[in-house]
Amino acid sequence: MRVAIFASGTGSNFAAICDASLEDVEVVLAFSDQPTAGVVDLARRRDIPTVTFSPRNFDTRLAYEEALVGMVRQARADLIVLAGYMRIIQSPLLAAYPGAIVNIHPSLLPAFPGKDAIGQAFSAGVETTGVTVHYVDAGMDTGPIIAQHPVAMCSELKDLEAAIHQAEHTIYPQVIAQLAKG
Ligand code: GRF
Repeated sequence: MRVAIFASGTGSNFAAICDASLEDVEVVLAFSDQPTAGVVDLARRRDIPTVTFSPRNFDTRLAYEEALVGMVRQARADLIVLAGYMRIIQSPLLAAYPGAIVNIHPSLLPAFPGKDAIGQAFSAGVETTGVTVHYVDAGMDTGPIIAQHPVAMCSELKDLEAAIHQAEHTIYPQVIAQLAKG
């Protein structure tokens, strides 16, 4: 399965997926809407074809989304993996890749959608939070859930963040491997 990974930030999930060397999975494209994001450097160091552009480079949001479709088609990717991609996916890409876009979110959805999900869970004082991998639809963190992994609450926010990221780096490669097996 040929995989395109979209990321806007640090890229630790991107690295975990690449470094898992999954059977039948080839990361054929790294895309970032942030040219200076850490993920860009991680991708180049792994010799993965890397593309960056942002909506600011286009007259309309539609033109940006259409450029994404063209880029993924050119890479001949079967699956788009969002790994800290901080934008809502819109109809041109959703329509071109139905059921073939997945996302990871740092909470047990439907709890704590949107930004700063780890901080939201910490402030709410829940006993258990976790991570969710789900298919992407037009909403924010609302698509059908593929897998979830619970993480126990910690007394310090930084410890919770570390535990969540560790869980992400385990579950996301596992889910992608499962999807590749069909
Ligand atoms: C992760 O916590 C992921 O769940 C969220 O964005 C973060 C990306 O982190 N969607 P990284 O860039 O992979 O380190």
